[in-house]
Amino acid sequence: MEMLKGFLFAWVIAFSLATIAVAQNDPSGFINIDCGIPAGSNYTDIITGLPYTSDECYVSGGVDSKISSIYEPNSPQRQFLTVKSFPLGTKNCYTLTPNEGKFGKYLIRASFLYGDYDGNAQLPNFDLYIGGDYWDTVTISNESTVIMKEIIHTPSTDSISVCLVKIDTTTPFISALELRPLNTTIYPTLSKSLKLFVRLNLGSLTNQYIRYGYDAYDRVWLPYYFEKMIIVNTTQEVLENSYRVPSAVMSTALTPDPLTTTDNSVSFNWIADSTRDRYYIYLHFAEVVELLVTQTRQFNIYINDNLFYGPMYPIYLSTATVYTVSPIYGADRYTVVINKTATSTLPPLLNAFEIYKEI
Ligand SMILES: *[C@@H]1O[C@H](CO)[C@@H](O)[C@H](O)[C@H]1NC(C)=O
Ligand SMILES: *[C@@H]1O[C@H](CO)[C@@H](O)[C@H](O)[C@H]1NC(C)=O
Ligand SMILES: *[C@@H]1O[C@H](CO)[C@@H](O)[C@H](O)[C@H]1NC(C)=O
Ligand SMILES: *[C@@H]1O[C@H](CO)[C@@H](O)[C@H](O)[C@H]1NC(C)=O
Ligand SMILES: *[C@@H]1O[C@H](CO)[C@@H](O)[C@H](O)[C@H]1NC(C)=O
Repeated sequence: MEMLKGFLFAWVIAFSLATIAVAQNDPSGFINIDCGIPAGSNYTDIITGLPYTSDECYVSGGVDSKISSIYEPNSPQRQFLTVKSFPLGTKNCYTLTPNEGKFGKYLIRASFLYGDYDGNAQLPNFDLYIGGDYWDTVTISNESTVIMKEIIHTPSTDSISVCLVKIDTTTPFISALELRPLNTTIYPTLSKSLKLFVRLNLGSLTNQYIRYGYDAYDRVWLPYYFEKMIIVNTTQEVLENSYRVPSAVMSTALTPDPLTTTDNSVSFNWIADSTRDRYYIYLHFAEVVELLVTQTRQFNIYINDNLFYGPMYPIYLSTATVYTVSPIYGADRYTVVINKTATSTLPPLLNAFEIYKEI
């Protein structure tokens, strides 16, 4: 058995509280910047209903451009039709000044669709920094693919700088920059920032991504399916917990398909750099099937064969989040296995999960 460093079974579980059952979609404190639209212009986005503004109050310099019209159909949202690029200078920064300043915790998302805006057909490659620290490298490998980089960040000052840094002969650019205040009690971490590794909505019935409107924090939930799994779902509202995963995400889940597998577990794995990568994991569960009195659904959660949490009984129409409070690290591969207990009559289910990497 491989022992994980830092893996002292440090988990916490957040249950739903009736007081926050109703999703209040209050976008106050959101900063929505559509980079590259004319200075002084603004609009209401038709998908999210959020008001977007131009970026001249947040950054100096840069050039506004439209993406090539051949890529316009690839743009799922209006924010991707224009970009701001920075041919001059090595480092160009946006300054965000959120309402709660350094007392807040924020989800910040930078989005990029190259769309051959410069007619050079040369795919850019550049670094992103936040508050002076390296965040990530943006490597555009396809002119028509949207890249989103997300971070959960607690700033040490009242303003936050998001910088684009030139690392070769290509020119940094950006399509949209968004900031959403989070409840400071969620995604607890010892580091200043967590960058998103993956966020999946398991067993979507629509195969559409879900974001603001449904998600009060405007996280983007991607639909995802595992082989040999079936979708279980409810048409009822699922109660939120402090993580506020929307009912639209929690009302579907994946569970092993008894017709194609005898394996009574839901599992997934990913490859890591054991010397560098440190992860935080958030597993979101809710029972979506009204069980008969003779039925039980009970399972254990293992990470690399270490019992992480269990036994777990998902509650009917109520979200519970099981999450790490300190990072797991030290392995080349992580395998999460959620398997039924000996007495459970039903196999496990999983509604959604998120994995973040420490910065
Ligand atoms: C656009 O800006 C004007 C002037 O500041 C403001 O009155 C209007 O409400 C804004 N519209 C949107 C959609 O943000
Ligand atoms: C970019 O992605 C599109 C859509 O997935 C694909 O059709 C195209 O071949 C890709 N282009 C390159 C250069 O890989
Ligand atoms: C699951 O979704 C399907 C399709 O929307 C719906 O017909 C069915 O009633 C749902 N199941 C439950 C238990 O609500
Ligand atoms: C943040 O979450 C805590 C714990 O769930 C809750 O008590 C508090 O009311 C929340 N604050 C806001 C502003 O939603
Ligand atoms: C559940 O999975 C863990 C980790 O793979 C394994 O060690 C354990 O034996 C499994 N338990 C059952 C009852 O299958």
